Amino acid sequence: MNGLTLLATGSAAGSRVVTNDDFAKTLDTSDEWIYSRTGIHERHFCKEGESCVSLAREAAKKALLRAKIAPEDIDCCIAATVSGDATSPGVACSLQKDLGLREDIPVLDVNAACSGFLYGMEVARGFLESGKQRRTLSGKTDGYALVIGCEQLSRLLDLKDRATCVLFGDGAGAAVFKSKENARYASLLGARGGEEIVVPGPGDGERKIMMDGKAVFRFAVEALPKTLKALLAQSGLTLDEVDWVVCHQANSRIIDHCVRSMKADPSKFYKNMDHFGNTSAASIPMALDEMAGKGLLKAGQTILLDGFGAGLTWGGALLQTDAQMNRFCLSEVSK
Ligand code: UT7
Repeated sequence: MNGLTLLATGSAAGSRVVTNDDFAKTLDTSDEWIYSRTGIHERHFCKEGESCVSLAREAAKKALLRAKIAPEDIDCCIAATVSGDATSPGVACSLQKDLGLREDIPVLDVNAACSGFLYGMEVARGFLESGKQRRTLSGKTDGYALVIGCEQLSRLLDLKDRATCVLFGDGAGAAVFKSKENARYASLLGARGGEEIVVPGPGDGERKIMMDGKAVFRFAVEALPKTLKALLAQSGLTLDEVDWVVCHQANSRIIDHCVRSMKADPSKFYKNMDHFGNTSAASIPMALDEMAGKGLLKAGQTILLDGFGAGLTWGGALLQTDAQMNRFCLSEVSK
C-alpha cells in the first residue's frame, strides 16, 4: 500500500486580530479567564473581502510554491471545512479553477469538523491509490495531493455567547503530500455521533455554533491519547521514535491532559492556539506550516497528527516528512 509523505505546507489567517481584551470590552469575560481555561490570547477573523476560499487559495499557493510542484502535477485536491463560502461550489472546486489544477482530477470538500484535515488526507490517499494505474500508463511515477483545512468560523459565531465566541478563529492550512510505496504511514478515523457541537448549515437561518464545552472536553481527553497509542501500536513505534506530535489546537489544557496520559515529553507536542485560537479543520495544517517556517520540520522526520471535533469525529495519522521537504529555501517560507 502507498502511504503519504509531507512535501510542503502553506497557511493564511484572517487579517483582523481580535484579542481577549477586545472581547472583554463587550462581554463579561477577561483575558485571565480565557487564557487560563484555553491557552488562547488572540485569534484572527476575516476582514471584509476575505473568506474561507480566499484563505484556502493563499495557503494552497504557498504550499505549491514551496513544493516546487506545478498545479498540473496535482492529482487530487481535498478541502476540509465546515464553513466554506457556499455548499456548492465547494472550496476545492473554487481552488481547481483559481489555481489552474487539471480538469481530470477529483476535487471535493469533506466535512468532519475539526478532524477534517485528517479525513481529507485519507480521502486523498485513496484517490492517489486508485489513480496509480492511470498514472503509470501515462508514464508518471509520483502522485501528488493538495489537502487544505480552511475555516471562516467567525461568521457562524454568536458574538454574545461568551462560552463559544472566544474560542474560534479564521484560517487555512495547506499541505502537498506525495504518494510513496512502503512509506511509514498509518491512519485511524472514527466518530461517536452526538450533538455536543452543532455547526449550522445553509437553511439554518440565524443559528450559530452551539456547544456543550464540558462534554466535548471529556470526549477529547479520552480520544486524543487513545488515538496516539493505537497509531503507535499499529506502526510498531514508541513515542521516543516520533519527532513531533501535532494535535488539534482547541485547548491547551486538552493537550496537557494528553501529554500526562501518555507520560510524554511536553516539548514534543506543538501548540499555537495562543495566537490563532481554534481554527477547526485548519488548525493542524496551520501548526505544521508554522513549524516548517520555524525550521522545526526537517526531511525524514516522523510526525503524529491527532484530532477530534463535532460529530463527534476523531482521527489521527502517523507519517514522515518527505526526503525532498527542505529543498525550498527558508526565505520562501516567510513569503
Ligand atoms: O474543536 C472542538 C471545540 N471544542 C472544544 O475543544 C471545547 C472543549 N471544552 C472547553 O474547552 C471548555 O469546556 C471551555 C473552555 C469551553 C469552558 O471551560 P469550563 O471550565 O468547562 O467552563 P464551564 O463551561 O463549566 O463554565 C464555567 C463558568 C460558567 O459560569 P457559572 O455557570 O459557573 O456561573 C460559565 O458561564 O464560566 C462561565 N464562562 C465564562 N466566564 C468568563 C463561560 N465562558 C466564559 C468566558 N468568560 N468566556
